[in-house]
Amino acid sequence: MKILVTGGAGFIGSAVIRYLINETEHSVVNVDKLTYAGNLASLGQSAESPRYAFERLDIADADGLNATFERHRPDAVMHLAAESHVDRSIHGPADFIHTNLVGTGVLLEAARRYFEALPAARRAAFRFHHVSTDEVYGDLDGPEGLFTEETPYAPSSPYSASKAGSDHLVRAWHRTYGLPVLVTNCSNNYGPFHFPEKLIPLIILNARAGRPLPVYGDGGQVRDWLYVEDHARALVRVLEAGEVGETYNIGGHNEHRNLEVVERICALLEELAPTHPEGVARYADLITYVTDRPGHDRRYAIDAEKIERELGWRPQESFDSGLRKTVAWYLNNDDWIAGVTSGAYREWTERQYGAPPGSGTP
Ligand code: NAD
Ligand code: DAU
Repeated sequence: MKILVTGGAGFIGSAVIRYLINETEHSVVNVDKLTYAGNLASLGQSAESPRYAFERLDIADADGLNATFERHRPDAVMHLAAESHVDRSIHGPADFIHTNLVGTGVLLEAARRYFEALPAARRAAFRFHHVSTDEVYGDLDGPEGLFTEETPYAPSSPYSASKAGSDHLVRAWHRTYGLPVLVTNCSNNYGPFHFPEKLIPLIILNARAGRPLPVYGDGGQVRDWLYVEDHARALVRVLEAGEVGETYNIGGHNEHRNLEVVERICALLEELAPTHPEGVARYADLITYVTDRPGHDRRYAIDAEKIERELGWRPQESFDSGLRKTVAWYLNNDDWIAGVTSGAYREWTERQYGAPPGSGTP
């Protein structure tokens, strides 16, 4: 297949592209606006493959998308482009509405227009895979219960509300227009190339630099962690074998309280980076409780039974093995970290591709 991947320069999109190029025969067209979260360096050698192409584009740009569909004539879309950070959505929801809602709507229309003009055999094989989040379900009260594909939507933040809206749009395009869609809702990802605004990379980098490790509220919130490469494998499995119109929840069976995650990172750093920053006796001494996130969801936990039973997917990493790999990766990839934290990769993309198109996202 030739797969049009949106958001392929992001954390999960780049893992999907690395997997598609390195482990399959598929071709990729990466459509990405390159916001602050998009970094082509995360693609590594896979970007040099003859099976890889890149289009810098805002998914809310209908003309640009129509031209891209015509130029590349893909067999499938994997839609990952989004504004993805809950805290940013609280400070400024406009970009989230622009990309997650308007952008998804524009992309659906471009895909429909292209799909409807395909010859019958290619139309029958076409797929639109929408990549979404467990946050659309809101949160779970107490330690029992899991999100299933039937759990009602109850999003809490501007981010999760915009993702919930995008899920509804995708399902409406299936029911109303017959677009052959697949939807996946996944739990928290972690692993290499994760932008350091998110909990796990932020804690690793702050600890190394001797900065405070900010824990929101009481640190008792629970997240269900999945190693990003396990997610990438799951997404490709759903694209190749999922049933049209179906939703698949994806999760790692790895529920942990935030404070426990931070403490585990500190313990791994004691082992893997025993030379502390000046003035720091133990990494855990840097843990600092800060004001809680408004509307903070208490617990997420995924029931991944459907994808395991129907498609035979299972995570390969445990939280212990995945977190160890992740900490080691951040200790050994100073170039990527320096590029992200200094903004050098943004300067490079602006020099290479011009200023970001669209809505004023930095
Ligand atoms: P990310 O923020 O790391 O990357 C998003 C990518 O989308 C970036 O490359 C960015 O440049 C691009 N992008 C943003 N706006 C765009 C636009 N208007 N047009 C084109 N490209 C645009 O996000 P991520 O963590 O890789 O998440 C990818 C997808 O997976 C998102 O849809 C997110 O909701 C979903 N998801 C993420 C997680 C997680 O834990 N990170 C878990 C479940 C689901
Ligand atoms: O559940 C899937 C979602 O996981 C994805 O849809 C989102 O795109 C992704 O960003 C992630 O959302 P979270 O809000 O759960 O991830 P984040 O890393 O921002 O925070 C994880 C938990 O850690 C959350 O309970 C908030 C807390 N936290 C976060 C930060 C950045 C802190 O305690 N301190 C922090 O500094």
